[in-house]
Amino acid sequence: MSRVTQITHPLIMHKLALIRDKNTGSKDFRELVAEVSMLMAYEVTRDMQLETVEIETPICKTNCKMLSGKKVAIVPILRAGLGMVEGVAKLIPAAKIGHIGLYRDEETLQPVEYFCKLPQDIEERYIIVTDPMLATGGSAIDAIQLLKKKGAKNIKFMCLIAAPEGVEALKAAHPDVDVYIGSIDEKLNENGYIVPGLGDAGDRLFGTK
Ligand code: PRP
Ligand code: URA
Repeated sequence: MSRVTQITHPLIMHKLALIRDKNTGSKDFRELVAEVSMLMAYEVTRDMQLETVEIETPICKTNCKMLSGKKVAIVPILRAGLGMVEGVAKLIPAAKIGHIGLYRDEETLQPVEYFCKLPQDIEERYIIVTDPMLATGGSAIDAIQLLKKKGAKNIKFMCLIAAPEGVEALKAAHPDVDVYIGSIDEKLNENGYIVPGLGDAGDRLFGTK
């Protein structure tokens, strides 16, 4: 069963409030999305494996813990997931970055795939899928399905804002995937937008529309 974690750290809540504000322009929006993503990544990576290594300080030799185990891939769902990559990659600079291009058809709300480029050894990596919005859940579900088709096993999904409908759909479709969310909002409106949400994440990040 998926673990769903809402990360209610005060810094994340404060920055999410600024992100939601319709008067926040693209430059600040991008910076805030990067900052919240970095803060969330701290929690998302909490179960990463460690190994003991010997380090020599200027004083003496000592045993320390360093990351071991699987290498990481960050996989943004284009476009808006791109805005979260910088923050996560700052904490995990050795991560490789894959890209999955999906857009929601405005009429049917169904995701349409237009791009997929992943690290060659994706099946061996610890994967963090990023997308600021989990609305109906269709895009996240399809992106994760695509990753699994390429052999990926160890997948986590992180988003800034989710609708309860999207969380339920994602849990049902991928019970093996842990989900990390900044805020679970009230509902979806008749156009498939999250209420209160933040509007269209891609447009706000990139200044389109
Ligand atoms: C947004 C968002 C998610 C998707 C969420 O992308 O970034 O990918 O909608 O909706 P869903 O859960 O109902 O699938 P959009 O399709 O607007 O594409 P864009 O990022 O290119 O603007
Ligand atoms: N995609 C967005 O960018 N915003 C929403 O509220 C729903 C889907």
